[in-house]
Amino acid sequence: MKKRVLSGMRPTGKLHLGHLVGALANWVKLQKQYSCFFMLADWHALMSEYQNPQEIKEYVFDNLIDWLACGISPEESVIFLQSEIKEHLELNMILSVLTPLAWLERCPTYKEQLKELKEKELTTYGFLGYPVLQAADILLYRASFVPVGQDQLPHLELTRELVRRFHHLYKKNVFVEPQALLTEIPKLLGIDGRKMSKSYGNFIALSDAPEVVRKKTEAMFTDPQRIKKDIPGRPWLCNVYTYYKVFKPELAENVWHSCMRAELGCKDDKRRLGEIIVETLKPIQERRDKFRKDRRLLEEILFQGNIRAKKIAQETLQEVKVVLKI
Ligand code: TRP
Repeated sequence: MKKRVLSGMRPTGKLHLGHLVGALANWVKLQKQYSCFFMLADWHALMSEYQNPQEIKEYVFDNLIDWLACGISPEESVIFLQSEIKEHLELNMILSVLTPLAWLERCPTYKEQLKELKEKELTTYGFLGYPVLQAADILLYRASFVPVGQDQLPHLELTRELVRRFHHLYKKNVFVEPQALLTEIPKLLGIDGRKMSKSYGNFIALSDAPEVVRKKTEAMFTDPQRIKKDIPGRPWLCNVYTYYKVFKPELAENVWHSCMRAELGCKDDKRRLGEIIVETLKPIQERRDKFRKDRRLLEEILFQGNIRAKKIAQETLQEVKVVLKI
């Protein structure tokens, strides 16, 4: 029996190159080795977007299109929508009664988000419980591994602590203690050199048309000291160089040297990178177009995935209730 993997994304915006490199490319590979569950976390999206929830549904389908276009396969993996599996809420409730407040209050992601997303008023009861729902997501499917980025490690640790607390309290082991699968990839920054993020609008979306990709790439920040082509650059701190390493590794060494020797100017460098990204996105966008035109197929894929997910979620929740005698 293949071990289980579960991961999820919050449908709050268009997916971009960071999602492709940081998550999706890795998910596609994991499908061969593991029994994978990929979840559109729309309840989690609601926790930060409750003031504007009408966009979530649209992004559920938009993100699903990207997943499929990138090679997530509904035959190999279970693709499902969190809000269709009510068991997530039930387990969330049960876990919440045994989660000490202090575990949530000290969570670094919680503290950061409060600071970063001030305009969203995230000092809510629901948002504080974000990691508890995430623990329910993972534990319902008894996933052994959870592929996540560095930023999600505190949530995984909290999930593991909850498993131990539950097993200790009720003297019966019903859950699997999940492990993180860290994706080791160079960090792609946004075109302005800041963290790539929806709120900064500094990303290249997987659905951006070639002209848009070219324009955004040409606008990318490079070494700020290199104000003229004949000044040698410092590729180790240049975001454009990082993009080469990710999207055209066979050219990266050449870029490194010709930048340091002031042979290659930033402008030409970025033009060429623009073409490389356009080429990378081309097959994805071709598949995107196909899925975009077939809403019925998308609904059918989710419908089937939801059925498969629900079956397992019900089994686990049933065991939990037996243990609790409720
Ligand atoms: N919190 C995750 C993120 O923002 C999304 C998520 C929700 C998730 N539930 C999950 C990831 C369960 C892994 C497992 O990226």
